[in-house]
Amino acid sequence: MRNLVMVAASVAALALVGPASAQSPIVIKFSHVVASNTPKGAAAEKFKELAEKYTDGKVKVEIYPNSTLYKDKEELEALQLGAVQMLAPSNSKFGPIGVREFEVFDLPYILPDLAALRKVTDGPLGAKLLKLLEPKGMTGLAYWDNGFKQMSANRKLVTPADYKGLKFRIQSSKVIEAQFRSLGAIPQVMAFGEVYQALQTGVVDGQENTWSNIYTQKMHEVQKYATVTNHGYIGYVVVTNKKFWDGLPADIRTQLEKAMKEATAFGNGQSAKENDDALEAIKKAGKTEIVTLTTEQDAAMRKAMEPVYKDVAARVGQPLIDEFIKETG
Ligand code: LMR
Repeated sequence: MRNLVMVAASVAALALVGPASAQSPIVIKFSHVVASNTPKGAAAEKFKELAEKYTDGKVKVEIYPNSTLYKDKEELEALQLGAVQMLAPSNSKFGPIGVREFEVFDLPYILPDLAALRKVTDGPLGAKLLKLLEPKGMTGLAYWDNGFKQMSANRKLVTPADYKGLKFRIQSSKVIEAQFRSLGAIPQVMAFGEVYQALQTGVVDGQENTWSNIYTQKMHEVQKYATVTNHGYIGYVVVTNKKFWDGLPADIRTQLEKAMKEATAFGNGQSAKENDDALEAIKKAGKTEIVTLTTEQDAAMRKAMEPVYKDVAARVGQPLIDEFIKETG
């Protein structure tokens, strides 16, 4: 039986990279874990529209949002096996497949703004990081934005002491783990699709995410407080299965690269507005009190998280941290 499944899987894989014809378009299954009305969801839709247009329908992009196909960890395995062809996991999710370096993006307060981020992703370091994916059977195609993370909990989070003893859901990043430990909190790795329920049932007390993710997952309905911290960044690496990508007819690949470039510009051009709109919608819903910090309170948060840089230097490499900071300047 197992052999039969494997034969069927290889036949399916061959069909995917086989020559395109009107009868059999090349199918790109694009799996992701967030809602369609988020920065990533919108960029994926734009890529689908442009990819199908530029290839005259020779490529069909099927988008599976909201963890409908796979959760965080499974989707990376599925991509490596060729069961899906494209994903856009956050920078924080590559550790479990053995690429720790993207966790440098998770360092607290390392990015002052999106302009600084863009210097890294569009520069030599961004390209160098994408190359690290190749031995894992993946090709990195682009960096997509979400935006800056905020903290939420059922306790009002103002000072570092307020985090003490609370359980926070985190993505699978050791840097984020160290960040919450620096605040005396208890981090718990959990798939994105499980966060709402975990907050609702009290499995965890709080979480960190962007306004667009908080709003579209309805987290604000089960969190009494959200604090504007902008302490970290969530962005994505669009990845494809390397074998699939290299096996595409060259003209098709060129058109897909063009579609990706334009979808990236589109998505990154509107991500900040999507997060601003989501914050407004959360305020309007009236279920969460939005807490803003004074300059002194913000400084105290930064100071509390400072040790994280030393703690994780061995994991991501001090030279990489230095190079990252230099490129943002
Ligand atoms: C998370 O797990 O919180 C995010 O990475 C989800 C996403 O893809 O934005």
